[in-house]
Amino acid sequence: MQVYINQVSKFASDEVEIRGWLYNKRSSGKIYFLLLRDGTGTMQAVVDRGSVGEEIFDRCERLTQESSLIVRGKVREERRAPGGFELLLTGLDIVQISADYPITPKEHGVSFLLDHRHLWLRSSRQHAVLLVRSTVERAIRDFFDSEGFVAVDAPIFTPSAVEGTSTLFETDYFGEKAYLSQSGQLYMEAAAMAFAKVYCFGPTFRAEKSKTRRHLIEFWMVEPEVAFANLEDVIQLAERLICYVVGRVLETRRGELAKLERSVERLENVKAPFPRLKYDDAVQVLKQKGVAIDWGADFGAVEETELSAAFDRPLFVWGYPRECKAFYMKESVEDPGTTMSVDLIAPEGYGEIIGGGQREDRLELLEQRIEEHKLPREAFEWYLDLRRYGTVEHGGFGLGLERTVAWICGIEHVREAIPFPRMLQRLGP
Ligand code: 4AD
Ligand code: MG
Repeated sequence: MQVYINQVSKFASDEVEIRGWLYNKRSSGKIYFLLLRDGTGTMQAVVDRGSVGEEIFDRCERLTQESSLIVRGKVREERRAPGGFELLLTGLDIVQISADYPITPKEHGVSFLLDHRHLWLRSSRQHAVLLVRSTVERAIRDFFDSEGFVAVDAPIFTPSAVEGTSTLFETDYFGEKAYLSQSGQLYMEAAAMAFAKVYCFGPTFRAEKSKTRRHLIEFWMVEPEVAFANLEDVIQLAERLICYVVGRVLETRRGELAKLERSVERLENVKAPFPRLKYDDAVQVLKQKGVAIDWGADFGAVEETELSAAFDRPLFVWGYPRECKAFYMKESVEDPGTTMSVDLIAPEGYGEIIGGGQREDRLELLEQRIEEHKLPREAFEWYLDLRRYGTVEHGGFGLGLERTVAWICGIEHVREAIPFPRMLQRLGP
């Protein structure tokens, strides 16, 4: 019977078949220890020359790293073996001998590994990160489903900018200009007026000229949007989402976190309520710390790292000035010049993982903003309709999947948090 390695504990003492690849092997004369991987895990197979015979033993001899194979044998509990079980091999079929696998156990440079990303995915750290990513994606959908949100997919080709014109990816759309979506938000605003609580989850694109450990050209974002919601509702939704997602990873991915040497205690600290800091106060804190910043400027990596350093859980910064936020942000009635915006800054220097807030729901003000931001009015007529026909308070946010995964995994760079990263100087593989 074919079984997957992550299921072998259910088959102790049974005869099973495992289909996979050779990860590593070592021998001690009469015994081969084959480390197998099958996509779900790794497991050691013990090949005893005396009991399997010469022919099978010779096949072991020929096996190279990443050769594909099918093995049969008996599962045995073995505390000292990685995973707690090993296979006493009785049969071995070679599917293919892999010659000169480029990624060897020695150290490789990052650019070499990125060039071989299609193979690098098989390595244990990359494997662990992408399993966490898959769990985070699942948890995000489960969270929104459990809160009664409707999944509404946003388009990728769009006629206009959402997050400023400087990072737009332009393409030709049958003679017309189109842009790859920077955010599904505007469409989610339309959908929220139709379904009350919605979210989209898909790839978004930014022609970011910045080459930092937090920026990708193509990244995945989940964007909830809620009708009849204010800034406080948005903040609480974000807090519940993060606690849910981190909780799920702690429940189901302990092994992967251990492989990544991620401090589990730090993740266990991630409990509501998260601290909150108004932008004005954040500027004061930064000035006291000697950071050169003037009121009105947006925060970058330096500011975010300084601010989050005092906290063991994510930090909400809210009430950013109008001049550093997008056109759709609602201006505060009590505090003109500032917006009902919020960013969530992850601890440990991972920076902004969520950006959002309450949207400008007043037609005249929104028209003014579109003009001030020099956006083409025609492209936004449909969006303005949402303010003409039954406008209500509403808000939402976008959570960047790769930054969230990088933070949860404790990895240095977002490029390892996505299967095939697209970066300033990288389009392949
Ligand atoms: O703050 P941003 O630009 O917000 C929006 O796009 C809103 N329209 C979302 C909304 O309210 N529906 O982006 C949201 C998040 C950031 O906090 C960050 O996590 C991630 O998207 N992000 C990036 N991740 C990787 N690479 C980039 N270049 C990113 N730009 C933004
Ligand atoms: Mg932002």
